[in-house]
Amino acid sequence: MSERVEFEVCLGSSCFSRGNKNMLKVIEDFIKENNLSERVNLNGSHCLGNCVKGPNIKVNGKLHSGIDRFKITGILRNTFDI
Ligand code: FES
Repeated sequence: MSERVEFEVCLGSSCFSRGNKNMLKVIEDFIKENNLSERVNLNGSHCLGNCVKGPNIKVNGKLHSGIDRFKITGILRNTFDI
């Protein structure tokens, strides 16, 4: 895979307070530990309009809901086949 994977972490107030404030760090640490910095674009976003199901992230535009550190680690592992 040569194209970068786009991670968008919702930092709207609902997702932020329900756990996403820690997710950027979790993702950053995973990227560092696995030398993935060339393969990932990591951004924060405003409210994705689906607060009820949050915390939310988007990976290449696909919404993932109910994110916690275990779920995000699973998504990262699947995405990069690690
Ligand atoms: S704050 Fe994340 S979807 Fe609204």
